[in-house]
Amino acid sequence: MRTAEAVTINISFTVNGSPYTIDIEPYKTVLEVLRDDLRLTGTKQGCEDGNCGACTIIMNGKAVKCCSILIGQARDAKILTIEGLEGEDGLHPLQQAFIDHFAIQCGFCTPGMIMMAKAVLDENPHATEEDIREAMHGNLCRCTGYVKIIEAVEAARDHILAGR
Ligand code: FES
Ligand code: FES
Repeated sequence: MRTAEAVTINISFTVNGSPYTIDIEPYKTVLEVLRDDLRLTGTKQGCEDGNCGACTIIMNGKAVKCCSILIGQARDAKILTIEGLEGEDGLHPLQQAFIDHFAIQCGFCTPGMIMMAKAVLDENPHATEEDIREAMHGNLCRCTGYVKIIEAVEAARDHILAGR
């Protein structure tokens, strides 16, 4: 009697500068692979339906909600998660600003917020408050009321601009 074998694909990608080549079931999402297979649990699992933004990462330079992306779509991708943001000099300015401006309460939305904010500032270093609010409208927070989060992103923007 034959037993059913799990179908897998072989796929390579880079996460936070480290190369990975894995055999993985093709129905898994990037979120599941990051959290369950690579144990990078900083990326949060919220709605799993593309609506809350808790799973936001940067893939090939763009912010994406990785609960809605199958791992096969990440072939040869360059992925950045919250774990890869801290540099040799310490916390990224966005991480520090979220602390300094009390933009974190339960923290569940925070990694996704910060990754989205990084993508916004990478694309437009001079993003206005309105630009930031517009770009981050798909990232939901049930705790803060958003005011401190926007303040933190603006503070990080100013810090980054001052260092140029
Ligand atoms: Fe991906 Fe909510 S967990 S958008
Ligand atoms: Fe709790 Fe945003 S700080 S969901």
